[in-house]
Amino acid sequence: MKPEFEEYAQNLAEKINQKDANELDGFADDRNLEFNWLTTGQMILTFQAPPNFVSRINELYDDLMHKGKLINYSKWLLGKVVDEYSLYLDDDNHSKVENHNFLPDDIHEWIKDRIHQYLRFTNTSYVGIKTAAAWINDYKAGEYNPVHIHLGNFEVFKDPLLVSNPHKVGLVGLMTLKVPNNMGKEFTNDGDIEKKRNGYTEFVGGAHGAQFAPLTTVIKLQPGDFVVFPYDLLHCVYPHFNENETRRTFPTNIDVYLNE
Ligand SMILES: [Fe+2]
Repeated sequence: MKPEFEEYAQNLAEKINQKDANELDGFADDRNLEFNWLTTGQMILTFQAPPNFVSRINELYDDLMHKGKLINYSKWLLGKVVDEYSLYLDDDNHSKVENHNFLPDDIHEWIKDRIHQYLRFTNTSYVGIKTAAAWINDYKAGEYNPVHIHLGNFEVFKDPLLVSNPHKVGLVGLMTLKVPNNMGKEFTNDGDIEKKRNGYTEFVGGAHGAQFAPLTTVIKLQPGDFVVFPYDLLHCVYPHFNENETRRTFPTNIDVYLNE
């Protein structure tokens, strides 16, 4: 599939031409959804996904798992997570797995809209975007994701002997689907909110020009949180210790083609 900017721009123009003033207001709101931001020097935008997206992806995942239709990715991913299953792959260089798409179109479009929004917010000059991969991480007690970056396929932070040559510039759109009510007892400093890490995600700042920027940014994701951040922003996920519940996230890797 080719970068879709032209199609996106054309659809936008058609919609604007078709809409009367009232509807246009609604459409404009849709394109510029409210968000908060965090920074490590690089921007991290956090949106709220519609609640029905969260329930629908959860149901979709449970249903596809029940039918045995999903491919387990854990052997190719760095995450110490047994249940990592693919929902989308568009990678013509990858011979191990056929391309596939289980994503509902409206949810996929909403995710891509947020990527365009990030690129507008950061004044990025770009010619197009292309979704490379999407999958589910379902963290059980004790499972975690070591410090890593993303690339334009599903292999994260692999050794330098990558057979394929994935696109290296892009954005991750990370939707949070489930978070245990109780992440389990912290081994130390259990009552200190500043030192909590169970089930938290931590983003690590870059080494260049880091003055007045936080060294790291730690967040506790909640269901419905949708976080957009660059492929090369180092991050990790700490384990939770709830034996009865899982912490479930749904990342999508979207390549960005810069106007170079
Ligand atoms: Fe990640």
